[in-house]
Order: sequence, then C-alpha cells, then structure tokens
Amino acid sequence: MRSLWFLIAILLHQSHSIQSKLATPPLPLLPIPKAAQLKWHRRELIMFFHFGMNTFTNSEWGTGEESPSLFNPTALDAKQWIDAAAGAGFSLVILTAKHHDGFCLWPSQYTDHSVERSPWKGGKGDVVKEFVDAARARGIDAGLYLSPWDRHEKSYGLEIEYNEFYLAQLQELLTRYGSVSEIWFDGAKGKNAKNMTYYFEDWFAMVKELQSSINIFSDAGPDVRWVGDEKGFAGTTCWSTVNRTMLKIGDASIVNYLNTGDARGTDWVPPECDVSIRPGWFWHKNETAKPLSQLLDIYYKSVGRNCVLLLNVPPNSTGLISEADIERLGQFRSAINSIFSKDLAQGSKAKASSQRGGKGGGFAAMNVLDGDDQTYWAPKEDQDGNGYWIELKRLDPSASFNVVRIQEAIAMGQRIMQHEVYADGNTVASGTTVGYKRLHRLKTPLEAKKVKVWIKASRGVPLISAVGLHFDPFHGVSMKTNGTSV
Ligand SMILES: *[C@@H]1O[C@H](CO)[C@@H](O)[C@H](O)[C@H]1NC(C)=O
Ligand SMILES: *[C@@H]1O[C@H](CO)[C@@H](O)[C@H](O)[C@H]1NC(C)=O
Ligand SMILES: *[C@@H]1O[C@H](CO)[C@@H](O)[C@H](O)[C@H]1NC(C)=O
Ligand SMILES: *[C@@H]1O[C@H](CO)[C@@H](O)[C@H](O)[C@H]1NC(C)=O
Ligand SMILES: *[C@@H]1O[C@H](CO)[C@@H](O)[C@H](O)[C@H]1NC(C)=O
Repeated sequence: MRSLWFLIAILLHQSHSIQSKLATPPLPLLPIPKAAQLKWHRRELIMFFHFGMNTFTNSEWGTGEESPSLFNPTALDAKQWIDAAAGAGFSLVILTAKHHDGFCLWPSQYTDHSVERSPWKGGKGDVVKEFVDAARARGIDAGLYLSPWDRHEKSYGLEIEYNEFYLAQLQELLTRYGSVSEIWFDGAKGKNAKNMTYYFEDWFAMVKELQSSINIFSDAGPDVRWVGDEKGFAGTTCWSTVNRTMLKIGDASIVNYLNTGDARGTDWVPPECDVSIRPGWFWHKNETAKPLSQLLDIYYKSVGRNCVLLLNVPPNSTGLISEADIERLGQFRSAINSIFSKDLAQGSKAKASSQRGGKGGGFAAMNVLDGDDQTYWAPKEDQDGNGYWIELKRLDPSASFNVVRIQEAIAMGQRIMQHEVYADGNTVASGTTVGYKRLHRLKTPLEAKKVKVWIKASRGVPLISAVGLHFDPFHGVSMKTNGTSV
C-alpha cells in the first residue's frame, strides 16, 4: 500500500514537473541594488560605537588640543561591546576610528596624536584592532568612521597636503585590519573651520580599490545615503533611489530629498538612519538610554520605512558599555522578537488579482507567506486597469493583529508608489512606498477574516515577497499616544 502511494506520488510529481515550466521573472526595474547593498539592507540593524577622546573630556566635539594622556580606558573590552551588539541582533558594527578632535584609536604612522601617546596599555594598544578582532571572532562584520574634519592636524586647510594625509590614514585603516564592510563619511565641519575641499571622489576611489565589497556611506552615497536627520526617522515616502547628481556632501538644503528619495532616481542609494540610544553620541555620566517605547518608535520609522537603523551605543570611560544600556538593548531585542517572531498571517490562503505565468509559473500569491524574501508574488501586466491586489484568507480570524508588514522584492527594483490595506473590506492603513520593508502600526488591534493589500500605483508590476501580520503588545500601552499608522 505504501509503495503504491509512493508510485502515485512520483507519477504526480513527474506529470506536475512536465506541465509546469516556470515562467521567467519580469525584467528588473533599473536601478537595482548591488549585491553588497542588498546584503546591507537585509541586516536591518547596525550598531555605531562613538568612542574616543570625547569620552574622557565629557564633550561631543573636541578641540584637538586635548592631551593624549587623558585617554585611559582601563578595562576596555571590545568583546563586551560586540556581545552587546550580537546579542541584540546587530550583524555589523561601526567604530569612530577618529573623530573631529583628530585623536586616532589606532597607532597611525602619520600623526603623534593617537593611542600610542596615551597611558592605555603603555602606548602599545590599538582599539581598532581589538574591535575588528572581537567582531570577527563572533562572526560580526566591522565598519569604520574616519572624520574628514580634523581639528588637531596641522595640515588641515592646506588642500593637497591634507587630502594626502587623509588618504594615508584611510589606507592604514583599509589595509591593516582585514575586510571592512562599511565606511562612514560625514560632512561635519565647524563654522570656524578653515575652508578647504575634501577630495571625496579620490577618497571613494581609493576605498573601492582597497575593499571591493565595502559600502560607502555619506550624504551623497555612493552606496548608502544619510537619511537627512539624526532622529532615526525616514520619510513616510522613502525611495532607495535618488539622482546622485543632486547630492552634495554637507549641503543642508537637500535633507528633505535625502529623507524621501526620488521615485525617478537613476541611482540606487538607500538611506541609513543614524541615531543615538542616548541624547549624545559620546558617553556622558549624566545621560541615560532612551526608553524602550522610543526605541521601538525609531524602529518602526526606520526599518519599517525601507531603511537600515544605525543605532549608536557609546562605550564609557572604563572602556565598557554601561550595564543599563545593555539591559535596554536586551529589552529592545526581546520586544522585536515578541512582535515579529509570530506571524499571524501564517496558515492563510492567499489569492491575488492575477499571477504571472499562471498556475505553476512560480509567482504564486502564496509566495508572500513562505518566509523567503527571494520568492515573490508577481501579477500579470494589468491589461484591464483593475489594479493589483493580494488577499489573505486567515486561518484564525480571531488572532488579532496591530501591525501589517509588507515587503517588496527589491532585488528587482523598488516599484510600489501607493498602497492600501483592507481588513474585511475596511481601510486600516495606507501609504506610498514599501521597499525592502514597510511596517504599518494600526490604531487598535483587529480581528479579521480577510486582509487585502491593494497596490494603487506602481512603477511596472509590483513584486511582493512578504505580507505579515503581527501583534505588538507595546503599542498603545507604553506609547503614550493612542496610536497612529506610521
Ligand atoms: C572655499 O573655497 C572654495 C574653493 O576651494 C571656494 O569655491 C569657496 O567660495 C570658498 N568658500 C568660502 C566661504 O570662502
Ligand atoms: C532624476 O532624474 C530623472 C532622470 O533623468 C528625472 O526624470 C527626474 O526628474 C530627476 N529628479 C529630480 C527631482 O529632478
Ligand atoms: C550631560 O553633560 C554634557 C557635558 O557637560 C552636556 O553636553 C549634556 O548636555 C548633558 N546632558 C544632559 C541630558 O543634560
Ligand atoms: C562602565 O560600564 C561598566 C559596566 O558595563 C561599569 O562597571 C563601569 O563602572 C562603567 N564606568 C563608568 C565610568 O561609569
Ligand atoms: C487620539 O489621538 C488623536 C490625535 O492625537 C486625538 O485627536 C484623539 O482625541 C485621541 N483619542 C483619544 C480617545 O485619546
């Protein structure tokens, strides 16, 4: 009996595979992400460590006049930093190798203003090395920040000399410490700083030559762009695309453009949302971590709006992350887990307005429920103008949800321009872009038999890799607001 069923199963399988040749995917909608950019997007969370001379002088912007003798993190343990990051689900960590005060956390051969002149480890220490080694040992990727503005360096203001100096330090950082996944550039420069041009194009070319799979972050990309604020909030409309020709590093007039991106943008440069867990970027004794509700709000407005969140957690003057910050990170992680590890759309039956290649073509509506962001639902071209929709008929309509998650197959380009979510026929959320991930927080928890996502406008056919429904127990409770869809 068993072998008979087995035989039937094989025959069924064969007849199935003979009939069902997969339909080809549609053409990508250019521009599309490079492999390194797609990997970056899937990380969702990156941790920043602002640490250096400011940690010891209780400041945010040093003057460059500080004595290296002040730097002495007696119990520095980069493993503790990495444990905090890894434990909270961060897969990439970025260190301020040098901030505006010019003090180098590694023994640079091009300046005396470094750890080599400090009492820490008798001048034999190298924070950058300890940091990358600790990260690598835990399978976490490392990134670095090297401030363009240097208030200590004498050649600052002499254009050629300073650009050469900067490139020399960049070369040290990108050749001594193995693979670097992200390099972070900002345009910060004090009002009284000497006027000079940074040769960003030369710097970027050097970075790519030394580290071919690195992502370069700056106001203007080329790989990852600044989101335009330091609150950690992306625009409710947020395209991964922009026109790089419109961007200039350090230009305050483009922050809105950075925040929303450009539907017609010719360059794939998605935004990273940088924000600190504390009020300041560096550790100060008088400051504490933001409450969990605020961190979750930031998560929804960054990761939930097609961005990656770059959360800064500053080590203290002992060289350790404060216990209270680690505890807050733990709460953040367990909150994210408790919201998103259970998908209340699982077990639903999915149907859609149409399916590319027909039944068996490989682009079924059910693909949005398989937990694999490489498979996706693709409709046929909308020839009759009725629009594109996908509907989930839920297994357990009484399992209430207050978060809707929608994800586009961004490897094929970002497409959705306008969408609406219905629960049993009522509009419960609406928005413009979706991108890698869009999270809608609903006003109140809902029970619903059917949830439908209607794509009202898109560039080409929409390709949706996931639709999820979640329950956020923190929403409407610890958040003092009565809930708005974000
Ligand atoms: C700074 O220098 C550049 C040329 O390097 C020049 O175009 C610009 O006008 C100068 N700005 C100020 C404020 O002096
Ligand atoms: C970006 O470039 C595209 C293609 O040239 C153009 O259609 C679009 O209008 C540009 N965006 C802006 C804001 O100028
Ligand atoms: C904590 O102290 C630093 C340095 O004095 C100061 O800049 C910062 O504003 C203070 N933070 C708060 C929250 O008062
Ligand atoms: C830094 O944090 C560690 C705990 O992680 C703590 O033991 C130490 O006292 C802190 N240092 C300062 C200066 O607060
Ligand atoms: C909910 O919030 C909105 C907007 O902030 C406000 O107008 C409304 O009165 C609030 N409702 C309740 C019941 O608190």
